Amino acid sequence: MRRRNNKTLRFGTEGLLISYAVGVGTQASIEALYPHKPLAGQTAIVTGANSGIGEGVARHLAVAGANVVVNYVVKPEAAKAIVDDINSSGGSALGIQADVGDEAGVEAMFAQTIEKFGTVDILVANAGLQRDAAFDAMTLEQWEFVMKVNLTGQFLCARAAVREFKRRGMRDVSASLGKIVHMSSVHETIPWGGHVNYASSKGGILQLMKSLAQEVAPQKIRVNSIGPGAIKTPINTAAWSTPEAEASLLKLIPYDRVGSVDDIGKVAVFLASDMSEYITGQTIFVDGGMTLYPGFATGG
Ligand SMILES: NC(=O)c1ccc[n+]([C@@H]2O[C@H](COP(=O)([O-])OP(=O)(O)OC[C@H]3O[C@@H](n4cnc5c(N)ncnc54)[C@H](O)[C@@H]3O)[C@@H](O)[C@H]2O)c1
Repeated sequence: MRRRNNKTLRFGTEGLLISYAVGVGTQASIEALYPHKPLAGQTAIVTGANSGIGEGVARHLAVAGANVVVNYVVKPEAAKAIVDDINSSGGSALGIQADVGDEAGVEAMFAQTIEKFGTVDILVANAGLQRDAAFDAMTLEQWEFVMKVNLTGQFLCARAAVREFKRRGMRDVSASLGKIVHMSSVHETIPWGGHVNYASSKGGILQLMKSLAQEVAPQKIRVNSIGPGAIKTPINTAAWSTPEAEASLLKLIPYDRVGSVDDIGKVAVFLASDMSEYITGQTIFVDGGMTLYPGFATGG
């Protein structure tokens, strides 16, 4: 693995560039964060973990001591490279292909995970995508596809997780019966014209997360969301890949830098660990202040 321009470049055995993740720290820099292995003995499923934020979260959870399922739907070679990397660095990972919008696929992923690792303690429902269009040009297919992956996918994975937590009962590896982390967005609260399907799916995740958290708190299941702002990943390359685009993006970020997947990985470990034991039903925005309405710093 080589690093260049803050990008981690991953080369296959033939020396070909097979994938890259932006801003994932080196193995050593991530290890320095979790010497006490707060997730030791636990198993996590991370959906959409062969790219971007999901990859970063999977790497952080693995270094923090969890067995990690690297879920993917396309690009198996990218998933394999991440799984191999984690396993050869002293972690424990398994790649499982499943479409999060497909009920049978999600059930099979949980069954495979339980067969391999015994149970599931942590779900990071991260998989998501955009199909952007002006509202009057948006097709029903674009609307339904985004809803199926971003909202129904989070429902199906969270339901399977809650069922497994209850089936398995309390274990001595965590104070909670189970932990669910939904990958939401600042767009669960900031409207986003031109992306009405995406913003609606993230607004839906807000009430999925809060209502579920309320329902299962008595069983000691914790449910929270991470609301990323602008994080450098393949989903939004156009927004930061030229100096002009990045300068325009920075006007929306008071902290004056675009986020990295490590910024998200660290919060995922926190929400999955007993460090956050008394936190449930909350969205933690990891956005450099994007939700602070930065336009009002000089206007209004
Ligand atoms: N990057 C950002 O700035 C940003 C900001 C806010 C929220 N988010 C959210 O973070 C999450 C990850 O996004 P990212 O930026 O890493 O983008 P990404 O495109 O790099 O990763 C998305 C992942 O989801 C996977 N995926 C898509 N459909 C799937 C399906 N049906 N089943 C399983 N996996 C599927 C993709 O293959 C990919 O691995 C998304 O939910 C996104 O909405 C990202």
